[in-house]
Amino acid sequence: MAGTTLLDIKGVETYYGNIRALNGVNVQVNQGEIVALIGANGAGKSTLMMTIFGAPRARAGTITFAGTDITQLPTHEIARLRIAQSPEGRRIFPRMTVMENLQMGASLDNLKHYDEDVEKVFALFPRLKERIAQRGGTLSGGEQQMLSIGRALMARPKLLLLDEPSLGLAPLIVKQIFDAIRELNKAQGLTVFLVEQNAFGALKLANRGYVMVNGNVTMSGTGKELLANPEVRAAYLEGGHH
Ligand SMILES: Nc1ncnc2c1ncn2[C@@H]1O[C@H](COP(=O)(O)OP(=O)(O)O)[C@@H](O)[C@H]1O
Ligand SMILES: [Mg+2]
Repeated sequence: MAGTTLLDIKGVETYYGNIRALNGVNVQVNQGEIVALIGANGAGKSTLMMTIFGAPRARAGTITFAGTDITQLPTHEIARLRIAQSPEGRRIFPRMTVMENLQMGASLDNLKHYDEDVEKVFALFPRLKERIAQRGGTLSGGEQQMLSIGRALMARPKLLLLDEPSLGLAPLIVKQIFDAIRELNKAQGLTVFLVEQNAFGALKLANRGYVMVNGNVTMSGTGKELLANPEVRAAYLEGGHH
């Protein structure tokens, strides 16, 4: 059902101890969209991603996924609703092989189409197939990012959360990763919520975007609108990545 709200974040406040990192955040991600959240280092982007999974937990507000209030659900139950993430820093298992990392992403329910799902990941990222028996920790940064996304896809997610997939990668690799995200969205209709400091790349990829400053969403619009917005350009794009 294109256009319906898949993820609805309303008035979310998240704290670290007594320090409030999110000050009442409202974000919506509709079925079939790519939505980007951009903002400077320390704005609260990763905190929002982690709050969706309940760690740390929202102290105020609600998070609804596919009509279910997940604000207070345990993290493993949230994952079971088929939200998957590639977290900041990728967090692959360095001593496990590429294949073993992918196995870790598959839930028990998905084992019957395991081979099919692995082949889909390899079709998306042929580099991973070439490195199938290699340990995760010996991969390049770009390959680790591919593996992190591939592992998330093994859960057959309805919503894919990506935290800074382009961080530290060469432009050519960033293009490959963004092309793969676009392909997943186009071919499979996968809904993607993406956090990026690479505002230019993210807003070009996204249908819609949000700008976060100090734990507040300060602007939102289509990717095109935000790319053309003078404030966005001055703060995030001028002298930037293009
Ligand atoms: N585990 C933590 N404990 C205390 N403060 C944290 C922790 N993680 C993040 N913060 C603080 O919360 C704010 C938002 O951080 P973060 O969500 O990581 O921002 P971003 O992902 O946009 O760079 C920052 O001020 C950061 O220092
Ligand atoms: Mg972050």
